[in-house]
Amino acid sequence: MSDPIIQLNDIKKHFGNVIALNGVTFDVRPGECHCLLGDNGAGKSTFIKTMSGVHKPTEGSITFEGRAMSFNSPRDAMEAGIATVFQDLAMIPLMSVTRNFFMGREPTVGRGLFKRFDIENANRVTVVEMRKMGINLRGADQAVGTLSGGERQTVAIARAVYFGAKVLILDEPTSALGVRQTANVLATIDKVRKQGVGVVFISHNVRHALAVGDRFTVLNRGRTLGTANRGEIRAEELQDLMAGGQELAQLEGSLGGTI
Ligand SMILES: Nc1ncnc2c1ncn2[C@@H]1O[C@H](COP(=O)(O)OP(=O)(O)OP(=O)(O)O)[C@@H](O)[C@H]1O
Ligand SMILES: [Mg+2]
Repeated sequence: MSDPIIQLNDIKKHFGNVIALNGVTFDVRPGECHCLLGDNGAGKSTFIKTMSGVHKPTEGSITFEGRAMSFNSPRDAMEAGIATVFQDLAMIPLMSVTRNFFMGREPTVGRGLFKRFDIENANRVTVVEMRKMGINLRGADQAVGTLSGGERQTVAIARAVYFGAKVLILDEPTSALGVRQTANVLATIDKVRKQGVGVVFISHNVRHALAVGDRFTVLNRGRTLGTANRGEIRAEELQDLMAGGQELAQLEGSLGGTI
């Protein structure tokens, strides 16, 4: 088994009196999809913000490629190869897929005063990279706003991979999608993993996580209770851990069905 790209040990994060994280241990290896599951308020977003340099942990240590690491800003983490696709995606709907793909990192031709955006090259790269992820664009000049939700997620994922992500963090990429689009995004995650990228997949949908995950870590009230490998844990057990045990079983009992 290969060494982790990034390892976070016993991370604690306090916001004044609020304890958002109270001992989280998590690592990501190249070519795996490690799912981070947890209910609302469990601390998922706070944790990935700590991983991507937005927050500094109150306590705990981070090791990146075998060395102790402290990210001072999201830029630091990005330069190290940690890319985060947030739920709101940070895209400009009226701009083309290409413009959104490059956003601030456009290739140029010419020099000095004659330097300009190399649109032909950029369009070509965009079409090729999207095709690799299984999406055939009508044209790279198509506005991002005309793509489906799943396709937009794929633009954000393809962009991160093209710009050299080693770790790709996806915050609830499937939560707003229908069945078919969810399947497309899960297939994209699989392709990215096969290229050797370590994927962190955040979800509170156990089925989505089980469909694609290699390992599963559940966050409950700011703590991790351990990590399970694929095949070692059932959907019901994960669901139970997320809900903190008891409560869901009782609710299921009183509703007479499965949630
Ligand atoms: N900047 C902050 N200041 C104070 N409290 C915060 C801050 N950020 C998060 N918290 C608190 O930390 C806890 C964990 O929040 P977090 O957003 O990490 O949960 P989450 O698992 O991402 O939830 P959700 O599924 O709803 O997105 C919550 O109680 C939240 O109110
Ligand atoms: Mg969140």
